[in-house]
Amino acid sequence: MAESMMGLKRSCRCAEVTPEMVGQSVTLMGWVQKNRNKGGIVFVDLRDRSGIMQVIFEEAECGTEAFEAAGAVRSEFVIAVEGTLVNRGGAANENLKTGAYELRAKSIRVLAESETPPFPIEENSKTKEDLRLKYRYLDLRRPDIQRNLILRSKITASIRSFLTEEGFLEMETPILCKSTPEGARDYLVPSRVHPGEFYALPQSPQLFKQLLMCSGYDRYFQIAKCFRDEDLRADRQPEFTQVDMELSFVDVDDVIDVNERLLKKVCKDAIGLEVQTPIQRMTWIEAMNRYGSDKPDTRFGMELTDVSKVVEGCGFGVFTGALENGGSVRGLNVKGQAGMPRKKIDALVEEAKGLGAKGLAYLAVNEDGTYKSSFAKFFDEAGLAALVEAMGGEKGDLLLFAADKNKVVWDVLGTLRLKLGREAGLIDDSKFNFLWVTEFPLLEWSDTENRFMAMHHPFTMPMDEDWQYIDSDPGRVRAKAYDIVLNGTELGGGSVRIHQDDIQEKMLEVLGFSKENAFEQFGFLLTAFKYGVPPHAGLAYGLDRLVMLLVGADSIREVMAFPKVKDASCLMTECPSVVDPKQLTELGIEVSETAEEE
Ligand code: AMO
Ligand code: AMP
Repeated sequence: MAESMMGLKRSCRCAEVTPEMVGQSVTLMGWVQKNRNKGGIVFVDLRDRSGIMQVIFEEAECGTEAFEAAGAVRSEFVIAVEGTLVNRGGAANENLKTGAYELRAKSIRVLAESETPPFPIEENSKTKEDLRLKYRYLDLRRPDIQRNLILRSKITASIRSFLTEEGFLEMETPILCKSTPEGARDYLVPSRVHPGEFYALPQSPQLFKQLLMCSGYDRYFQIAKCFRDEDLRADRQPEFTQVDMELSFVDVDDVIDVNERLLKKVCKDAIGLEVQTPIQRMTWIEAMNRYGSDKPDTRFGMELTDVSKVVEGCGFGVFTGALENGGSVRGLNVKGQAGMPRKKIDALVEEAKGLGAKGLAYLAVNEDGTYKSSFAKFFDEAGLAALVEAMGGEKGDLLLFAADKNKVVWDVLGTLRLKLGREAGLIDDSKFNFLWVTEFPLLEWSDTENRFMAMHHPFTMPMDEDWQYIDSDPGRVRAKAYDIVLNGTELGGGSVRIHQDDIQEKMLEVLGFSKENAFEQFGFLLTAFKYGVPPHAGLAYGLDRLVMLLVGADSIREVMAFPKVKDASCLMTECPSVVDPKQLTELGIEVSETAEEE
């Protein structure tokens, strides 16, 4: 029978015992990891969030009743034990934080019993993730995930203390917001009071934080929940947390400076990591040209080479055609992989096609100096030699080429670089390579929308020297936008904002908003900017991603208490779920038959 606390007081958590407590009476409480009866002695491993303490029951010491009770507890029972803390001496277990001690019990009280859990509560669980997430409250008892979430709390505390010291005010912004176009798909919330009208959950506090600058708060931050209805991946959840900030009277360098100091402190506090500052900076175009990615993993080389000039006028239509269409031909030198089996090369070609390429050309430089290639027949000997030389190709190398629009070429080679680099063991997992990527394009052409879209968001300031091209060549205009990248993951991003209403209106016009439309969507911001708005800039980190990378997890689900799965459902609470028809009637909502069938 489970008992209540009845005057019991816990001395401390298991791993918080100190040398001074040795020889004293100590009361610990927690979960039974396991118990073993070794002929006259019962060992109970007692677990709480700090660690595990070995508790020993000997009948002569604790009496028959406690001895039998200790023998009868099972895994995940919640118990309180009182006894004398002793040094383990020679039998110390160096694998346990508490391994130098054990508790010689005098009494035990069962505070709660437990059914047999559906999977063992232990480190490095082999349990399927679906089962773990269905019983997330049990999964969250596992020491590795507890360490992650404890570190997450530490990281948030460190961020709060740094930003507060630096004069940032922690402010909250609404969760029920106005739906605005651009960006990802919104989560909508129907209004009961205004039938047929909807709130949107915020994708980020972007506009509110800009308005707070307009209102003179000077420096703002928030640990903010954000919601985006997009396809989920290992580093993407429908609701996630941003460390969001905005600063007044600053330029790019000021934002970078305060954030480098923030990262330095947080990484030191969290895992003792020394971040070298200044952090390397690279323009967007350099990142694309060298790594085929705007979030390059700089822990290894294997950079892209532009061979457009070298293959100009060659006899291979695939290459010359791409050049004639304003594209490029670029290559990747996969060192020592000339012997890659045909099957594997074919798989790479398929992968390239999956990324939108029409194919992937290859040339293997055999050890005897001959070539094995899908396109060599279109080249003369000198042309081939020049191509191999441009690629730094040596005997034994496999050269891969993509020819297409830059965007496709970068995407294909950038993706293959990561895959092949990882396979070749070129990535040193102990490294933490931070990188600022700067000078992003302001706009990005969308084939599906048939118009320019904001690459970051519509409030991003163009670079002064490029604004003159906004009508003649919009794609050429760069923005005062920056991303912070860690080991090939986009950790955060931000920009200097437009604070001049004429530039903002022009920007919305380029994005295809009519004047009326722009005012309907963003009227509050455009009007606010007519009343004296300071120059301002900001940035937001994905907190989940930061924690994931610092703990070395491979998914943000490992650092969120209650994540959702790929189809955005929660396996534990089983949401989303149908609601009472009464609720729908109140909201004036009818679910269509097709939706119900689905
Ligand atoms: P952005 O859209 O780049 O910028 O988002 C900032 C950071 O948030 C994280 N992030 C996500 N993390 C988990 N799941 C998601 N679905 C997800 N989406 C984004 C990323 C990303 O770098 N308002 C601007 C910031 C600014 O300009 O100040 C913004 O939201 O780590
Ligand atoms: P094809 O002439 O279409 O048989 O292509 C010859 C070789 O070029 C094959 O290895 C194709 O995979 C490759 N290839 C086709 N299109 C491209 C492209 N856009 N970029 C690079 N290689 C290509």
